[in-house]
Amino acid sequence: MTHVAQEKWSSGTAFLLAAIGSAVGLGNIYRFPYVVGENGGGAFVLLYLGIVAFFGIPLVMTELTIGRRKQLPPISAFTALSEGKKSQPFWKCMGWINVLTPLGILGFYFVVSGWTLNYVYSMISGQLNNLVEGQTLKVFTDMQQSPLTLIFWMTISLSITAFVISRGVKLGLEKAVKILMPMLFLILVSLVIYSAFNGGMRETFEFMFTPDFSKITGKTVLEAAGQAFFSLSLGSATMLVYGSYLPKKESIPKLACGVAFADTFVALIAGFAIFPIVFTNGLELDSGPNLVFVTLPIIFDQMPFGQLFGILFFLLLAFAAVTSTISLFEPAVSNLEERGILTRGKGSLLVGIGLWCLAAVSALSMNILSDVRLLTFSDTVASKNIMDILEYMSANAMMLINALFAGIFVGWVMKRKDVLEELGLDDSLLFKFWRVIIKVVVPVVISVLILQLFELLDPLMAFIL
Ligand code: PHE
Repeated sequence: MTHVAQEKWSSGTAFLLAAIGSAVGLGNIYRFPYVVGENGGGAFVLLYLGIVAFFGIPLVMTELTIGRRKQLPPISAFTALSEGKKSQPFWKCMGWINVLTPLGILGFYFVVSGWTLNYVYSMISGQLNNLVEGQTLKVFTDMQQSPLTLIFWMTISLSITAFVISRGVKLGLEKAVKILMPMLFLILVSLVIYSAFNGGMRETFEFMFTPDFSKITGKTVLEAAGQAFFSLSLGSATMLVYGSYLPKKESIPKLACGVAFADTFVALIAGFAIFPIVFTNGLELDSGPNLVFVTLPIIFDQMPFGQLFGILFFLLLAFAAVTSTISLFEPAVSNLEERGILTRGKGSLLVGIGLWCLAAVSALSMNILSDVRLLTFSDTVASKNIMDILEYMSANAMMLINALFAGIFVGWVMKRKDVLEELGLDDSLLFKFWRVIIKVVVPVVISVLILQLFELLDPLMAFIL
């Protein structure tokens, strides 16, 4: 096999922007606020912060280490790093699963990122002006019922992503995040200032930071962990591939903390942009996925300069989404290019065509194919349509499984000396602490979460006790 040398980020800052761009996405601005709303606020936020600090940061470090050690994409990295071990075929297979997981995520992510583009357009063209509550719901459901609208916007979102990827690390990825990330931040800050002037900040503070621990159940823990992993782009080859482009002189622990901090900060700030508006207008916080696409447009319609801020808000979502789709698209193309199978341009085209088919099926599962049920043998998934199954399998199950095995790989398979060198932490207490988390705590906790996800935990406990 001809290995093709990989491009590198031009600096640590370029990596940071791209990795934050990957982490900050629909998960932070669309999903985090409604999940916090559904799970009762403070206690969930606290749990989330704990998970990011104790599991999120160590796992980001782990994935960056696997990628950077040999500066190779997942399949080659896992294979090279397990050279000479009996378990090598298994790890090679894990490399493959790592490359496939982000494609599964993109199967539904492109559709939702298409919604955000559609809403930017609808806001600009005034289609969301002078509407009352029931009507914004109708706009949202009409969009989901229209295969053409969904596929049109999904195609635009996919084409932008494929174009950026085809231009390579420096000219494509780096250039895109250097433009998009500052704009994203500016829009976010202006939205928070706008919200602050319209009241509701005190209630938001109380809601987000006063914990009511009676709200925490096994399901909440799973939800918080799933949200944290998704938001930090863990278990999806992304950090691994972005790590493989990282120059050796950059410090992995510092950058991992930077990414986790920025990602969490943006999620919290998104809460401060959205909740005050909801509080001052006496609306429900637990409206789930409808919060952003149904509730907010009504409020924007009634507020001073609402249309302008509505446009900015959906633009923010669209920018956040595209820097994430770029990072989800990259592993497959990087893999094809490095293994000498296809050039970057051809790889982007091929992966793009495959993904278009997957995302189109997932868009149709909201309308024409809404009655199709693929998995009927398990109660957990029997009621899910194709898009929901894709999300469940990739963004929940596979991400947890990949993160679990990344931990096991770095903790138990890679040489301690190599890991130490890559992290540059010396043989310090911090390194020992990190290693215990990765070797023992992560495998145990994630295994429990996986059992809980497949609803196997209770039967297992009943069997043991
Ligand atoms: N972190 C992104 C978000 O919050 C989603 C994502 C997941 C991106 C996995 C890359 C890898 O929306």
